Amino acid sequence: MRNQVIPFLILASVLGGAGLVMAEHVDLPAGPIRDRHELMEGIGKNAKIIGGALKTGKLDPVAGAAAEIQASAGKTLALFPKGSTDPKSRALPKIWEDWAKFETINKEFEAKAGELVAAAKSGGDVGAAADAMFGACKSCHDDFRKPEEKKDGGKS
Ligand code: HEC
Repeated sequence: MRNQVIPFLILASVLGGAGLVMAEHVDLPAGPIRDRHELMEGIGKNAKIIGGALKTGKLDPVAGAAAEIQASAGKTLALFPKGSTDPKSRALPKIWEDWAKFETINKEFEAKAGELVAAAKSGGDVGAAADAMFGACKSCHDDFRKPEEKKDGGKS
């Protein structure tokens, strides 16, 4: 298995350049900030599995990876307690200023991950379901995550 960058634009924009390639373990404070970093890394890993499966057309791993993403989505909100900011975190204060929207996007994200599991299990339109899920990653990151510093954007 080659371990290469997924060519899908939307996925690339979600994962960013450096962010995905093995967290050079930034020393984040123990607790929710570090835990959500690890949670997101896990989501990123599974997203990459899904992207790779779509690329090769071998869709077997999709249902399992999407189920893991769905489970992670269920844990996300608890890892953003009020005030959990840090200079090394990319979480924007807007998360807490507009918690209702953050929560809504996360609920949609969780639902889309569930729809992707269902599509993969039933032989449905996995590509469309994956796009919809990745769209939720992107809309949350666009609104609530600080852009990566040295890169000029990663916006599609
Ligand atoms: C509800 C909002 C939301 C959704 C949905 C979401 N993310 Fe994130 N993600 C964030 C926030 C906020 C951060 C930054 C957290 C921090 O730095 O404290 C982040 C960080 C990340 C990181 C960087 C981890 C790190 O700290 O280096 C990756 C990779 C990532 N997300 C991938 C994904 C993928 C892939 C999806 C969809 C399959 C996704 N995210 C869905 C909000 C979200």
